[in-house]
Amino acid sequence: MARNATNKLLQKAKKLKSDEFYTQLSDIASELQHYKEHFKGKVVYCNCDDPRNSNFFNYFVQNFKELGLKKLITACYKEQTNDLFDIKENENAFFYEYSGTESGILNKADFVYFKGDGDFRSPESIELLKQADIVVTNPPFSLFREYVAQLMEYGKKFLIIGNINAITYKEIFKLIQENKIWLGINLGRGISGFIVPDHYELYGTETRIDDAGNRIISPNNCLWLTNLETSRRHEDIVLTKRYAGNETEYP
Ligand SMILES: C[S@@+](CC[C@H](N)C(=O)[O-])C[C@H]1O[C@@H](n2cnc3c(N)ncnc32)[C@H](O)[C@@H]1O
Repeated sequence: MARNATNKLLQKAKKLKSDEFYTQLSDIASELQHYKEHFKGKVVYCNCDDPRNSNFFNYFVQNFKELGLKKLITACYKEQTNDLFDIKENENAFFYEYSGTESGILNKADFVYFKGDGDFRSPESIELLKQADIVVTNPPFSLFREYVAQLMEYGKKFLIIGNINAITYKEIFKLIQENKIWLGINLGRGISGFIVPDHYELYGTETRIDDAGNRIISPNNCLWLTNLETSRRHEDIVLTKRYAGNETEYP
């Protein structure tokens, strides 16, 4: 195979690998604590999340009352073949609507199967998106541009995880430049790591197994991207030195 084609395949494989990073509950809680006021009476949609293994789902169920949520919709994609619980390829995609229960326990009867594959771009998923006020998730990195474009097209508020490089994509950079979206609070080492499936090769010092036996990698190259207001955004940067008179220190 020509070197170029091989490189392309390797790059694609690398990209698809990061599509299988699952977010830790602690990282979700650490970011979400800064946005609580936005969620009262709102419908939240997690459209790249299997409620059986998504910590976004867990977070919103656990904090449903405290946030004053109206509804949580969580939808999964059928091609989750090698995820945390090794869901089989031929399994149907479904979504789950949660409006809070006294016990907070998941009721299986509320699962609704999609006719299609649950792709966030599918008409069925878009119908759910239209009902939503805020979308919160860690979407597939390989489809990040399309993912953000769709949120903008439907005028949705969102808080999502992406790769730090995403801010250099011209479509994303333009939105930041126009003040339509901005960085969240945590980024880089501020996001402690992602759970990866068993087949994922662990290497390097930034990997570990947590107390629950989950395999964690810490790529330290992710960020939160949002169009929800945060007070942090308006904090003045404490300046410590002037350029004038210190030119040599600013080569
Ligand atoms: C980076 S993982 C994150 C999973 C979960 N949101 C979390 O944070 O733990 C991205 C997820 O998007 C799903 N996915 C991939 N392509 C998708 C698509 N076209 N539409 C919806 N979900 C998709 C994958 O199956 C995977 O579960």
